[in-house]
Amino acid sequence: MKKLLLLLTVLSLTVINASALEKNEPDSAYLFAYNANGLRFAWSLDKQHWTPVGNNYTFLKSDYGRWGSEKKMINPYLIQGKNKRWICAWSLNNQTMQFAIAQSANLVNWKPQSYPYVNSGKNVLRPVISYNASADEYTVIYTDAEGKYFEVKSKDLSHYTSAKPVTASAYRNASTAINMDGKQEGQMFYLPYNDILALKKAYELQDYKSKQNAEQTKDDAFRFTGLKPISAKITFEPEKPKAISNLLTGVFFEDLNYAADGGLYAELIQNRDFEYHPRDKGFNDKNWNNTYAWAIAGKDATLQIDSVSPIHPNNPHYAVVNATGAGATLSNSGFDDIALKKGEAYLFSVFTKLASKEKLNIKVRLTSATAGVIAAATLKIGTTNWQKQAVTLVPTAVVTDAKLELVLETAGRFAVDMVSLFPQNTFKNRKNGLRADLAETIAGIKPRFVRFPGGCLAHGDGIANIYKWKNSIGPLESRKPDRNLWGYHQTMGLGYFEYFQYCEDIGAAPVPVIAAGVPCQNSSTGGGGQQGGIPMSEMGAYIQDIIDLVEYANGDIKTPWGKKRAEAGHPKPFNLKYIGIGNEDQITEVFAERFAMIYKALSKAHPEITIIGTAGPFFEGSDYDAGWQIASNLNVPIIDEHYYQSPGWFINNQDFYDNYDRSKSKVYLGEYAASLPGGNKTNLETSLSEALYLISLERNGDVVSMASYAPLIAKEGHTQWNPDLIYFNNSEVKPTIGYYVQQLYGQNGGDTYIPSTLALSANQEAVKKRIACSMVKDSATGEITVKLVNLLPIAVNTTLDLNSKQNSFNATKTVLSGNPADKKVLPVTSNITLTAGQQLEIPAYSFTVIKLKP
Ligand code: AHR
Repeated sequence: MKKLLLLLTVLSLTVINASALEKNEPDSAYLFAYNANGLRFAWSLDKQHWTPVGNNYTFLKSDYGRWGSEKKMINPYLIQGKNKRWICAWSLNNQTMQFAIAQSANLVNWKPQSYPYVNSGKNVLRPVISYNASADEYTVIYTDAEGKYFEVKSKDLSHYTSAKPVTASAYRNASTAINMDGKQEGQMFYLPYNDILALKKAYELQDYKSKQNAEQTKDDAFRFTGLKPISAKITFEPEKPKAISNLLTGVFFEDLNYAADGGLYAELIQNRDFEYHPRDKGFNDKNWNNTYAWAIAGKDATLQIDSVSPIHPNNPHYAVVNATGAGATLSNSGFDDIALKKGEAYLFSVFTKLASKEKLNIKVRLTSATAGVIAAATLKIGTTNWQKQAVTLVPTAVVTDAKLELVLETAGRFAVDMVSLFPQNTFKNRKNGLRADLAETIAGIKPRFVRFPGGCLAHGDGIANIYKWKNSIGPLESRKPDRNLWGYHQTMGLGYFEYFQYCEDIGAAPVPVIAAGVPCQNSSTGGGGQQGGIPMSEMGAYIQDIIDLVEYANGDIKTPWGKKRAEAGHPKPFNLKYIGIGNEDQITEVFAERFAMIYKALSKAHPEITIIGTAGPFFEGSDYDAGWQIASNLNVPIIDEHYYQSPGWFINNQDFYDNYDRSKSKVYLGEYAASLPGGNKTNLETSLSEALYLISLERNGDVVSMASYAPLIAKEGHTQWNPDLIYFNNSEVKPTIGYYVQQLYGQNGGDTYIPSTLALSANQEAVKKRIACSMVKDSATGEITVKLVNLLPIAVNTTLDLNSKQNSFNATKTVLSGNPADKKVLPVTSNITLTAGQQLEIPAYSFTVIKLKP
């Protein structure tokens, strides 16, 4: 039998060799793995002349730590281990007591990386991995800053022995050097040529895709040279309706870009609680401290920060003003000054306590450099215990440069905290509510859901910074502020109560996203590679917090957390139905273990809640694959995908969901946006590419349950992330063109998709990809909406065959069109009568929405 097998093997090898010879290709060749901040390959027949595989193409990158400052691959060392599996080990930086391990079956697709800890040495440098087949064991030997050597062993590359010192002679580094664009150091292998061909093919495919992704309208004159006028016939098939999600358009809210404090949260006083701390900005700004945005004026007047007997332990600091004479003034400059409206009421409130014998009078003033004092009132401070006082101020002028001033009428000393100036006119007049114009603009999208509090903010910068919902509810002075991982401060003034309230006010479903027991993969503290999950001993309490959130939202008022909701003014439940666990996490073992614990416990405690899992930060790759694997194993109902891409990507990937397995998890496209390559800018072109892609989401609305553009809002001058959907300053709201695309989808959604066929007079692929159409019906209103996107440089003469017994329809037609480079385009709506077989001209570079009245 053995002989027969040997003969067959020889024969099959002979066949392969013969076919290789026929193609005049080598059997085998040398592969060289080297580092250029990531693993690259070159191949050679003679070890002398080397050809890179791909043009500067990196097959494996380090995923450890922050984007920008980390994610470095240092001294990678590649071997073939058990079952010829490729294993790469590398060092992460100069201080971490960890190294990296990645595994792959083919050098193209890699499994999620792991970052094992070691407990000996000063750091981990030049790790070398080897595999001993007879012991079925891997050994990693590394050196450190002191030139000492240590080894760890592992059977499964998951569990490692503790590090023990070894002699220098035990360290065998088989790296070699070649000459190719200078000297390259790395590892050499002799492989079947087919393996090298597979690498070349993988590169070619990526290169092809990158070229597609780089497609822009600026090249359209060339791309569509000689393009003849185009006509299209769209035939709808109302007899084949398909049920789709009616939650497709939602919004993603994260306190990023001053979206909450200084933004949607209507508070006008910055650092009202004197809790700003240099750590908020990574100790990079010496002015960012407890007195930021505050100033004291007046001869010998002082402003000090104290923490003895604060109003609440969660709010430990307050200010003490000491004045030796009348006129000492404590002022706050708001968030880039304060914008006020003439004749509107603003509620000023403050906690004070007397620190001197004599009672004090304080004048509260709103002043403007241009308009002088525009509102004033007097407060008396007469007690040495904390006392809250409030007064309404009504400005006599419209200004954008106001300051709040507290002016002492005599000498004295007093403590002050929680200084607030709040417009009465918040969205729906909610107390402690939201800035009306911004909240209305968001509501204008008619979002079916609101995601909160992120994004990265949800899982935080290190374990200690994970968003804790319990810190965001209750009286403002008892909420626990925190460092915002985007480099500023979060007061928690816009907390879970305000969030649930806003969702209810705009008829959107709340979709809270909670960390999966691990911090952001971009964390800079507590283990840059996200290995630092919440300790297992604390996971029970962490999971209970999540279960308590459901009780806070939905529980009876007799339950402990339902009672707190009622005390906040909302005895009725908020009807929470969805919870996301995790946010584009790196899918490590640490993540997987914690996610499964949370998922199982939450599903058991609240089977009525639909849980949303996570599939990493990209539309492909190791986290995407592993995230999906976990979702499939655990039957997670919905999974959150994220991708920020170029318009070319959105144009060329409209089939992304067409072949998704309908029996698996549904998709929540939780973060997406198109931006121009190289500048994170948007224009009509990016917005139309989103509109085009959203047509494919409607077509796949049976598998894609929800989608939210990200990020939602950004304050001019405080933007950490571009592009955003809506920009604003203190007095203006500036929606982008992308906003109108979202609005047209949000206002024209449906729960039924009517398929259609599109017959075009041109058959170039590039043309076909730039025209798309969908029809949806909203069964609640009976309204039918047709959406058409034309991303071609010429108008398309279109005939719509509605296949309806009705011959004519009253309809509205809304068109967003212009020059692709335009940054400001507004939708234009007109009333039309649509008759059977009528031709419509769909303008070049346009998005048209036709709403048929029932
Ligand atoms: O939307 C901005 C950020 O992008 C989110 O916080 C994060 O989830 C993603 O990387």
